[in-house]
Amino acid sequence: MRTQVGIIGAGPAGLFLSHILHLQGIDSVVLERHSREDIEAIIRAGVLEQGTVDLMNGIGVGERMMKQGFRHEGIILRFNGRDERIDFPSLTGGKSVMIYAQHDVNKDLIKARLAAGGDIRFETKDVSVYDLNSAAPKIRCRNKEGQVDEITCDFIAGCDGTQGICRPSIPAGELTLYERLYPFGWFGILCKAPPSSDELIYSMHQRGFALVSTRSPDVQRMYFQCSPNEKTDDWQDERIWAEFRARLETTGGWAPKEGSIFSKSVIRMRSLVVEPMHYGRLFLAGDSAHVVPPTGAKGLNLAASDAQILAGAVTAYYKSNRVDLLEQYSATALRRVWKATRFSWWMTSMLHTFPGSDEFQHRLQSAELDYVTGSRAGATSLAENYVGLPIE
Ligand code: FAD
Ligand code: PHB
Repeated sequence: MRTQVGIIGAGPAGLFLSHILHLQGIDSVVLERHSREDIEAIIRAGVLEQGTVDLMNGIGVGERMMKQGFRHEGIILRFNGRDERIDFPSLTGGKSVMIYAQHDVNKDLIKARLAAGGDIRFETKDVSVYDLNSAAPKIRCRNKEGQVDEITCDFIAGCDGTQGICRPSIPAGELTLYERLYPFGWFGILCKAPPSSDELIYSMHQRGFALVSTRSPDVQRMYFQCSPNEKTDDWQDERIWAEFRARLETTGGWAPKEGSIFSKSVIRMRSLVVEPMHYGRLFLAGDSAHVVPPTGAKGLNLAASDAQILAGAVTAYYKSNRVDLLEQYSATALRRVWKATRFSWWMTSMLHTFPGSDEFQHRLQSAELDYVTGSRAGATSLAENYVGLPIE
């Protein structure tokens, strides 16, 4: 069969891309190795930048988010027992973020695509890509029933995340990888408890970083910095709560709301960017091209902005016969990617305790937090990055 754009991966990058292209009258086929149920259930990110919220609304998939999501107008930075708030609207000309889970974004996009007759093939196995440097690149795969399909495309979008096949299909030597591994991970929990705070709390503590987030009026999402090799089985609930209490302590005696923990996981942390984000007619978008540590809440939002940039370039090709935007896709996307990579690295460095860190380092980090929260220029820099920089 033939399609205009073959999309590998039904995460945010692939689903946003497919839906935006559809609104421009451009066909796509989305191939996904997991089932629909899995895609709609895997717990990941939760913070949508203003631009991602606007995108959801602009493409007609924002209704549930506007009802069930939580608009947050600031975050709390907690350090040395002190709380300092960064107010987004006053520092960014009225912008804010939305707390709305990634799997709900996926759910809304899948529903919209299927309602419009979109072709998403779940449980597709053995996906491979060929003829990437020709005008007719191809995808081969095994469908749910076990038969082999071949799809001839005008373009292929590699939206298949960190473990996908698209990036490794690009010949050695064509891509440059820039990587930074962090010597810690995040221990993440979901628990049955109301939000401990109206806004997210990012806490810098000598025992290590902790974050209080939320998902719904009765589910809290929380993280603490841990060893990258930490085993969830070593952490019984009481030990977890003791760690949160210690790292989140304030001079005012604040303590998190506790409840039964129903999910525990360890997330490794790294920064990775590959350049360029294309090879021939294969274009990479989202985590297949770059990974950020979650401290800046940028991963899902970068997937959405890549999809938007790529969709614009593909649309210009079909509607105006222009190839320049496709040629510039990688450079345009990478400008934003590197700024988000810098912000995520900076937030991570400012808030975490690095192994071997001493009192001098702790005082430097405290001074940086004191500066960022005490200076309008410092606070503005954090706020405008957190709510999301524009696509340029
Ligand atoms: P993905 O969402 O990974 O989607 C890729 C899709 O491609 C997947 O559905 C996958 O099944 C599919 N796929 C892969 N290989 C194949 C193949 N061979 N054939 C067919 N399909 C394939 N970011 C934050 O900002 N905050 C967070 O708290 C946060 N938490 C995270 C927790 C975890 C455990 C992980 C893994 C990531 C987290 N992230 C977080 C990052 C964020 O979730 C990602 O940046 C985001 O999912 C990127 O979207 P994507 O569409 O590029 O990739
Ligand atoms: C989350 O709610 O999962 C979350 C929030 C903020 C982050 C990372 C993760 O920086």
